[in-house]
Amino acid sequence: MELCVALDLPSEKENLALAQSLKDHNIWLKVGFRAYIRDGKSFIETLKMINPEFKIFLDLKLYDIPNTMADAAEEITKLGIDMFNIHASAGPVAMKTVMQRLSNYQKRPMVLAVTALTSFDEENFQKVYEKSIQEKAVQFAKMSYENGLDGVVCSTFESRDIKRVTSDDFITLCPGIRPFGENAGDQQRVATLELAYQESVDYPVIGRPIYTNDSPQAKVNQILKVISTF
Ligand code: C5P
Repeated sequence: MELCVALDLPSEKENLALAQSLKDHNIWLKVGFRAYIRDGKSFIETLKMINPEFKIFLDLKLYDIPNTMADAAEEITKLGIDMFNIHASAGPVAMKTVMQRLSNYQKRPMVLAVTALTSFDEENFQKVYEKSIQEKAVQFAKMSYENGLDGVVCSTFESRDIKRVTSDDFITLCPGIRPFGENAGDQQRVATLELAYQESVDYPVIGRPIYTNDSPQAKVNQILKVISTF
């Protein structure tokens, strides 16, 4: 299991201070819409300057026609980041086109597909996809696996079923983690680190429980210590 910390603070300065405080840890950093749209490529470069060993997950959830997605995936690859994601609902042709295009690169980032956004409840999910979250997430994961992606973004509660229909090596990256049962905030379905481990989650994504803590560094230490016992 590898910890991914969400850099979701309101300013570049605060995100960089958080990264700086975590610079001695072997962790992933998640850069989302807000930070990337505002602070762009130079933000990623600065993170790598703070610690060249930081792994970067660029959470931009691409969704467009296949060729446009492949063009974007290529530009993302040139940024030198380590992982990015697309929406699974873009479909198999988009998945194949993206993976084919990236096969031209000697070193490509890992590519994950977003299955069901964790903000959906069953009722609203049904209105869009006409299936349960569990059923659709597993179906999307199978499609992603068959089309050469490296893994999916899903909730802890779908992780094991997804591995069952794909492979143990097929990555599950899961937000909605409250390592030791901290406040859930707006997350609907949260899991502790222990449960994430039991459900075979590869990458727990953790934001607020870390950056709202008085000492993000102490919290990360505590999390990494538990992970090392799994
Ligand atoms: O603060 P918290 O630990 O809830 O942060 C979770 C992170 O994961 C946030 O950056 C959130 O946008 C992101 N995320 C999510 N659910 C998804 C995809 C991404 O919570 N399905």
